[in-house]
Amino acid sequence: MKLHLGCGTKKLEGWVNIDSVEACQPDLLHDISQPLPYEDQSADEILAEDVLEHFDKYLRFVVFDEWVRVLKVGGTVTLQVPDFKKILFKYFKFGYDNFVDFIFGENLWESKAYIGHFGNHKWGYSKKTLPAFVELFGVESVTVETKGLNLRLVGEKVRHVTHEELDQIKIYSHANKFGSGSDHVTVGFARERIKEFQNGSTRQIASSHLSCLPFDASNHPEQANEREHVEGPKS
Ligand SMILES: C[S@@+](CC[C@H](N)C(=O)[O-])C[C@H]1O[C@@H](n2cnc3c(N)ncnc32)[C@H](O)[C@@H]1O
Repeated sequence: MKLHLGCGTKKLEGWVNIDSVEACQPDLLHDISQPLPYEDQSADEILAEDVLEHFDKYLRFVVFDEWVRVLKVGGTVTLQVPDFKKILFKYFKFGYDNFVDFIFGENLWESKAYIGHFGNHKWGYSKKTLPAFVELFGVESVTVETKGLNLRLVGEKVRHVTHEELDQIKIYSHANKFGSGSDHVTVGFARERIKEFQNGSTRQIASSHLSCLPFDASNHPEQANEREHVEGPKS
C-alpha cells in the first residue's frame, strides 16, 4: 500500500490519494493531522509533497509520528517542503510577493477552492533541519535535494521508534533574541496539550472566526483598560 498524503488535485495511479478538501476529490477524505485509519507498519511508501510545512512547530511531531507509524521498516518516505532559508534569501534580494506565498502558503490551491488554514504554512525547514527532524523518527535520509525553491527528501525507515521513546525528545521553546531557547518541552508534553486543544478543552475566545474580528471594547468592558494599557492612548 502506498499513501499519498495531502494529494491536492494531483491524483497518482496506484496510490491512496488522501486530502481533507472535498474539492480535490481524494480517494480518502481525511484530516491527516488526525490518526490515519491504517494498521502499524502497513504501508510500503509515504509521499507528502508540499504538506509537512502545514503543521506547526509542535503538531508536526505528532503528525509525522503518525505517518511513520503506518510505514513498514524498510519503507520509503518522500517529503517535499519549501526551502525556507533559500526563500528568505530570495525575498531579501528581490522582494517579490510570490516569495511571501512560499513562506506563508497559498490558500487558493489548484482545486480552485479557498482552503483557509489548510493552505497556510506553519513551519519552515532547511537542508539541515529537515533530515535532522526525520531522523528522530528512525528515518534515515537517502537523498536531500534542492528542487527550485523546494527541498525533496527521500528517506528509509530503518527502525520503529515507539511513542515512549519519541515522547522523551525535547523541543526548544520560546527562543530569545539570540535564537536560543530552553528545551524543557518534551514531545509527550506537546502531545497532551495538542490533545486538549483538539478535544476542545483548551479555552479559546469564541470561534476562530470571531477571534479574527477587530476587538470591540464596548462588548468587553472588563478588558477595555487592559487593552488601552497595551495599545497606549489614542491621539
Ligand atoms: C500545497 S498543497 C499540495 C498538494 C499536492 N501535494 C501537490 O503537490 O500538488 C497542500 C495540500 O495539503 C492539504 N492539507 C493541508 N492540511 C491538511 C490536513 N490537515 N489534512 C489533509 N490534507 C491537508 C491541502 O488541502 C492541500 O491540498
